[in-house]
Amino acid sequence: MFESQQPLLLDLRKFVAPEYIFGTDARLLSAKYCKKLGAMKVFVATDKGIRKAGWVDELEEQLRFEGVDYVIFDAISPNPRDFEVMNGTALYHENNCNLILALGGGSVMDCAKGIGIVVANNKPIDQFEGIDRIGKPMPPLICIPTTAGTSADVSQFAIINNISQKYKMAIISKALVPDLALIDPKILLTMDNYLTACTGMDALCHAFEAYVSNASSSFTDLFALEAIRLINQELVESIKFPNDIQARGKTMLGSLYAGLAFSNASLGCVHSLAHSLGGYLDLPHGECNAILLPHVVDYNFSASPEKYRTIAEVLGLEVKGKREEDVKKTLIDYLIRLKSDISINNTLKDKGVTTDVTKVLAAKAINDPCNATNPRMPVLGDLVTIYNEAL
Ligand SMILES: [Fe+2]
Repeated sequence: MFESQQPLLLDLRKFVAPEYIFGTDARLLSAKYCKKLGAMKVFVATDKGIRKAGWVDELEEQLRFEGVDYVIFDAISPNPRDFEVMNGTALYHENNCNLILALGGGSVMDCAKGIGIVVANNKPIDQFEGIDRIGKPMPPLICIPTTAGTSADVSQFAIINNISQKYKMAIISKALVPDLALIDPKILLTMDNYLTACTGMDALCHAFEAYVSNASSSFTDLFALEAIRLINQELVESIKFPNDIQARGKTMLGSLYAGLAFSNASLGCVHSLAHSLGGYLDLPHGECNAILLPHVVDYNFSASPEKYRTIAEVLGLEVKGKREEDVKKTLIDYLIRLKSDISINNTLKDKGVTTDVTKVLAAKAINDPCNATNPRMPVLGDLVTIYNEAL
């Protein structure tokens, strides 16, 4: 219905997606697929929170049942660090592994991808920063996401924190697409409300940014708009009723669609600004995105007013016949309300950011590859202004 209002873009566009299996208990297929993919020894990447929730014990049982040997690496932090990638790589080699299984959220999956490319290419992780810089393909990678937000399980992205320089490196390549994603909404039942809110807002930002991206296409638009509809409809529900598997499932489907959209259309200034902010202050990625989104919509709106109007319509906002300025205000007000409804109330100032810090953050963010597909090409001063408005 929304597509027919836009002219069809006929520029060349490609679409890359891994094999994925979505549904209740998809996670239980992992050991069987390890065998199918020829695993001799599986490198399991996870973190201590996932272990505590009991998901690793269950996975170990499955692997043992299928007779698949494995080693577990759980020393992965939120905002995974470059040295964690190198430590994981050493463990992989010591154990002669030949397949990676990532069980976790974005940090675990990004770190697992980093380990995969370092294992295959034998170079430090910072050598792969940027677009299409991976020479040899990584070993087979199976991802089981434990959050509904990052979509690293279907994306061409990995984000690794460069600790000495205090910023997040964006690594983008088709070589980072996993071989298989097992997407199981049941895993979301152990997520707390704040993590649900932050990861849900990350997914919503993926869909927003993919839809208005310069590299969007008919295929990515389809996924991006449906992602916005699903996340908007179900995120608040899945926080109010955390055991509602329908709400969890629809949020996870929304996240998957957002992932397919942004993996192919790329992102924009919400993410370039959030990468710099999250890397510098070690803040949750989804929270950074949620704080920045209304300010980036304000900055971008004039570059893509019709697309933002469509987004407002999909969100169920009353914008028919309204002037552009009014649509923008309606959309921004709604995003601020949504954030508040899911208890993301911090500003950047609450997070310890000052006007001195915003200059440092902007100087790092201006080099992020996500700027290239933002509908409005930012200069350094624009990024400083957006940060300052989010203080
Ligand atoms: Fe993200």
